[in-house]
Amino acid sequence: MKYQRLRGVKDVLPDSTPVWEHIITKACGVFGMYDYRLLITPTIEEIGLFTRGIGESSDIVMKEMYDFKDKKGRHIVLRPEGTAGVVRAYIENNMGPKANLFYLGQMFRYERPQAGRYREFFQIGVESFGDATPYKDAEVIRMAAGIIEAIGITGSILNINCLAAEDGYYDKLKAFLETKRPHLCEDCLNKLERVPIRVLDCKNETCKKAVVDAPLITQNLKPDALAHYVKIKELLNSTGTAFVETPTMVRGLDYYTGTVFEFTTDKLGPQQNTILAGGRYDNLVEELGGKKTPATGFALGIERMAEVLTGEGKTVDLNVPDIFIVADKAYLNEGYGLLNKLRAQGIKAAMSFEGNSFKSQFREAESKKSRFVVVIGENEIKAGNFALKNMKSGTQQLVDFDCIVKEVKK
Ligand code: HAM
Repeated sequence: MKYQRLRGVKDVLPDSTPVWEHIITKACGVFGMYDYRLLITPTIEEIGLFTRGIGESSDIVMKEMYDFKDKKGRHIVLRPEGTAGVVRAYIENNMGPKANLFYLGQMFRYERPQAGRYREFFQIGVESFGDATPYKDAEVIRMAAGIIEAIGITGSILNINCLAAEDGYYDKLKAFLETKRPHLCEDCLNKLERVPIRVLDCKNETCKKAVVDAPLITQNLKPDALAHYVKIKELLNSTGTAFVETPTMVRGLDYYTGTVFEFTTDKLGPQQNTILAGGRYDNLVEELGGKKTPATGFALGIERMAEVLTGEGKTVDLNVPDIFIVADKAYLNEGYGLLNKLRAQGIKAAMSFEGNSFKSQFREAESKKSRFVVVIGENEIKAGNFALKNMKSGTQQLVDFDCIVKEVKK
């Protein structure tokens, strides 16, 4: 019996994982600069956390959750996103009032699989608690932009919007949308009843045309939210962070209360062009049983970032050995000794222990893209030195151990 992976999930093979390591390493470097600490939360949570947290009317809760009953009959969900679990952990472990956290791990959504859209995917996320100021929104957005820059993705667009509508806006919007019923797709007709604002975000061309004159949220903001939003834009400008105001961007999760943002790219299909997204959610901590606490954050999808980078032909060779040891079968002990001495010096060294022919060992060194090869054969042992070959230039010299270290570290 041969088994295959399930639909919508991926094996990330060693050819691709260096790009993943690159993304994770760069993101962690930025978190260090901004003083954010790693938090690890479980992949499984009680279902209520998400129905309460993300919202009953969201697509995720309505259609996409992987849920099951455990052996004691508890209703469990494989987390579809990270924020709700982080908020639970923040409350349960009394981490307040202020905490700057980041996390990474698998999320699960039963979506229609396609390039950049998977049923199990990895997010790197950030949640910041306890700061209600526009400086915090601007800092979090700047940090997101910094991560994208550090990863090396170019040409992405930062879209921003504010969701703090004044009372009466939703009634006004619903009344407008009612007049457009004949032009709306079935999905939008459904949303019109539940969450009219999401109709504005529909990708269907007919729906887009129908809502062109809809009352916009940014023209109907609460006065204090408007001032906050204006300040965020001023701060983004002050750090040279380019953005586009997109008043139809509403996000798919119900917990947002203020400024939201998405970084999009034209390098992936139109349905999954968002590589990083987030926003302010000032009510969620209280809704999930904690004290009222302002919060904001974002998450990026590692698969989408990796697909953009590889699509642009960017290769990352993180795990290339500095040096590969080619040893005659009679000198495996000497080779093994050298391998450990090199590693002790912080040099990435590799070797194959089977004592195959020099030709086959050289082939292995080439396939691993090793920068140097050191040869240990009878001649070298007699000379009391090692033959060091620079695989890029092709030059070879007889050198001692200290010289190898110096040359490789140069
Ligand atoms: P989200 O927009 O649902 O937000 O997801 C964030 C990112 O995860 C997306 O921009 C995308 O890169 C990636 N992503 C989402 N779904 C998939 C999928 N099916 N396959 C591959 N990648 C995917 C959140 O999850 C919020 N928790 C973000 C947040 C944090 N807001 C505040 N704090």
